[in-house]
Amino acid sequence: MAESAEAATGGTIERSEMRWAYVVAAVVGLVFVVIIYTGLHWVAAPPSNVEPIDASLLHLSGEFVEANLGTALQPDGAAVVRVIAQQYSFVPQCIVVPADTQIVFRVTSPDVVHGFLVTGTNVNSMVVPGYVSEVRTRFDQAGDHLMPCHEYCSVGHEGMWARVKVVDRLEFDRTYGSQARASCAGK
Ligand code: CUA
Repeated sequence: MAESAEAATGGTIERSEMRWAYVVAAVVGLVFVVIIYTGLHWVAAPPSNVEPIDASLLHLSGEFVEANLGTALQPDGAAVVRVIAQQYSFVPQCIVVPADTQIVFRVTSPDVVHGFLVTGTNVNSMVVPGYVSEVRTRFDQAGDHLMPCHEYCSVGHEGMWARVKVVDRLEFDRTYGSQARASCAGK
C-alpha cells in the first residue's frame, strides 16, 4: 500500500514535470519563431518609407526617366524634385527650388547606395537602389547649398556632389516657370 502510494506520487510529479517541460519548450519555440520572422521581415524591407522601384528600369520608363528629372510645380503649389544619384553624379547637377514652398525630394539610385544631404538644412537621407527616398522640407530664404554624396560609393565618391539653388518664388516663376521640369544645370 505504502509502496503504491509512493509510485502514484512519483507518477504525479513526473507528469507535472513533463507539463512544465512542454511549457518551456513552447516558450522557447515561440521566441525562435519571433526571431526568425522579424529577421526575415527586416531583411526584406527597410524600416521607413518603403517605396520599392525597379532600379534596372529607371532610365527606360516611369517617374525617373531623364525628361522627368528636376523640379516640377504641383497644382497645389508644392514642388516635387526628382533626382537620380548614380556613380558619380547627381542628375540634375544643379537643383533649383523656390523659397517658402513645400518641397518634396524624391531620389533613387540605379547602382549602389549613395547619400543625399543638403548642407545647412535637415535634409539628410540614404539613397538605396531599389527604393525611392522621399524627403519633405521648406527653404525659408534664397541661397545656395552644396549637396555632397555622404555615403562612400567607391572610387569617385569624393567628386560626387551637386548644388541646390534656392530662389525667391517670384524669381522662380519668372525664370523657370516655363520649364515643365526646372533645373539650373548649365546655368
Ligand atoms: Cu555617391 Cu558617394
